[in-house]
Amino acid sequence: MKLLVTGGAGFIASNYIRYVLSAHPDYHIINLDKLTYAGNLENLKDIEASDRYTFIKGDICDGELLRETEFDAIINFAAESHVDRSILDAQPFLQTNVMGTCNLLEVARQRGCVFLHVSTDEVYGSTREGAFHEASPLLPNSPYSASKASSDLLVRSYVETHKLKAMITRCSNNYGPYQFPEKLIPLVILNAINRKPIPVYGDGMNVRDWIYVMDHCKAVDAVFHKGASGDIYNIGSRNERPNIEIVKLILRKVAEKLGLDEDALMKLITFVGDRKGHDRRYAIDPSKTERELGWRPEMDFGEGITKTIEWYIANEQWWQRILSGDYMEYYNAQYGERLRT
Ligand code: NAD
Ligand code: TYD
Repeated sequence: MKLLVTGGAGFIASNYIRYVLSAHPDYHIINLDKLTYAGNLENLKDIEASDRYTFIKGDICDGELLRETEFDAIINFAAESHVDRSILDAQPFLQTNVMGTCNLLEVARQRGCVFLHVSTDEVYGSTREGAFHEASPLLPNSPYSASKASSDLLVRSYVETHKLKAMITRCSNNYGPYQFPEKLIPLVILNAINRKPIPVYGDGMNVRDWIYVMDHCKAVDAVFHKGASGDIYNIGSRNERPNIEIVKLILRKVAEKLGLDEDALMKLITFVGDRKGHDRRYAIDPSKTERELGWRPEMDFGEGITKTIEWYIANEQWWQRILSGDYMEYYNAQYGERLRT
């Protein structure tokens, strides 16, 4: 199986590639990534020498490149993924998340290959009570979630119109190793380590439903192997938390690990103006995925947060090179002019 993984240099897909290479010895992964600010080949340093792994620097919007690349199936992780950036400029979100997905769907249609589209619970919008299920209405509120909902609808249209074999996964907020430090959990960990202010939007009582990244990766793999074409699969671990509770938990654990004064770290919490259109609460019901695919989330939240903090403490070079911008040079040093840019 030659599997095209798009966005493989990002947070979730780099974890996914590592998982697939160990779980499926007969798989070859082709990682196609544009290497935006969020793409970091240093996420894959430990596997880049594998003869079952190929990296291509490229854009999912580049139809010619896709047509000349050999593969048997596509898992589409590539996206602009940060809500705050989509509020500042929606254009790249539409370009990559909508047009790029359309382009991949077209190639999948021409080849007759399976297409798994990795989406998000944010397409359902915000809910006061209960949890999102697969038939909940799509009510996205941010340009990011609107672009993801649009791509989900395009996938649906290719299934209905062209009989493409495709599945959609909708996962809740991920955390774990290799997450880019613009997202809440790694931002809090690094700002605590570096004694920098920790911005908490609004009253800190917005609720997100957190899942450990490897649980998400295993669910994507289960959908890829056992999912029904045209179906949507919600992925989550029934783990709702208000932001402020997570911030305080991380600060307590960082203080304990590094022998720092907990009260001093708590003083870094800085309530700032709210995000525009800030969704109040996400909650996802993963019962269908559990029932039909036999998948279960395995990581307990307290343990997952501890492992994540330990990972960031142990991998200072990784994040220092992101904070300094040096990580972007890794591609040129490794691959030079050998690959298409
Ligand atoms: P990320 O921002 O860490 O990584 C995105 C990757 O896509 C980067 O490597 C980037 O270089 C690449 N990319 C961007 N535009 C591209 C293009 N035009 N062509 C090729 N590559 C391109 O994102 P992530 O957090 O790992 O999310 C991965 C996927 O999972 C996204 O589709 C996202 O919507 C979805 N998702 C994320 C979460 C979460 O909590 N992070 C939750 C649910 C779903
Ligand atoms: P984020 O990690 O950006 O994920 P998403 O917006 O996709 O859910 O944000 C998670 C929550 O944390 C969200 O409610 C916004 C909040 N947040 C802060 O309070 N401060 C921050 O600096 C960031 C980045 C997020």
